[in-house]
Amino acid sequence: MSKTTLFDLDGKIAFVSGASRGIGEAIAHLLAQQGAHVIVSSRRLEGCQAVADAITAAGGKATAMACHIGEMEQIQQVFASIREQFGRLDILVNNAATNPQFCNVLDTDLGAFQKTVDVNIRGYFFMSVEAGKLMREHGGGSIINVASINGVSPGLFQGIYSVTKAAVINMTKVFAKECAQFGIRCNALLPGLTDTKFASALVKNDAIRNAALQQIPLKRVADPGEMAGAVLYLASDASSYTTGTALNVDGGFLS
Ligand SMILES: NC(=O)c1ccc[n+]([C@@H]2O[C@H](COP(=O)([O-])OP(=O)(O)OC[C@H]3O[C@@H](n4cnc5c(N)ncnc54)[C@H](OP(=O)(O)O)[C@@H]3O)[C@@H](O)[C@H]2O)c1
Repeated sequence: MSKTTLFDLDGKIAFVSGASRGIGEAIAHLLAQQGAHVIVSSRRLEGCQAVADAITAAGGKATAMACHIGEMEQIQQVFASIREQFGRLDILVNNAATNPQFCNVLDTDLGAFQKTVDVNIRGYFFMSVEAGKLMREHGGGSIINVASINGVSPGLFQGIYSVTKAAVINMTKVFAKECAQFGIRCNALLPGLTDTKFASALVKNDAIRNAALQQIPLKRVADPGEMAGAVLYLASDASSYTTGTALNVDGGFLS
């Protein structure tokens, strides 16, 4: 009996935003390990280049490209580069997000509100629009939106961030419904508390971490690598009949 090829990504071009560290870095490594040429992206090129070099050193294929997803011109520029260098895109992982302010919702700062909306909603939306246009030209593709458990159950003092993550779950369904006719699938990943720089304020504080663990049936915080397998499933032919779904990878938090 031969092993399944359902999870193979040979010949695929994949773009991962926020891939210079954390969950995005783990996703970039796994997609490359399965054969994809991964475009490693974040605001700062150096961090992306380091990840791309590590992938290449391990025998994979990767290219670093800087893109601030909160800046519309940079989205246009990065897709012009993808078109020029690769001519196609098969997988988009919208992973880069921001959460600049922890506060009671009544203290929300307008600047923090605007930044969170610009990156987490407008950024994901127009990255998907540009990717979708390229995918449509080549018969399809897979878009994976990294949302959050906060999109279903808002985190305390993470008001506008939680609102944007709920929008991402709805956005996933919008693209799934309207782009299925082009062979494009769109799904969301809802990570639970994961040990990254993003969550360090929560994970490193004993009181906050212990309170969070009370609500997680698996009684631990996730490692970033534990998010990557679910993304591989959604990126590959293993999920060929799955679109518009929100996949919880949360240690049972939302159950
Ligand atoms: N960690 C958790 O507990 C947790 C839980 C639920 C959901 N999530 C979600 O998981 C995703 C990844 O989070 P993470 O924990 O891995 O965060 P992280 O370790 O802080 O990494 C964030 C990545 O995004 C990049 N980035 C930040 N702002 C950007 C922007 N405007 N444009 C482009 N790239 C940007 C960063 O690089 P640069 O600084 O170079 O731009 C970095 O590569 C996010 O969508 C987050 O909401 C995380």
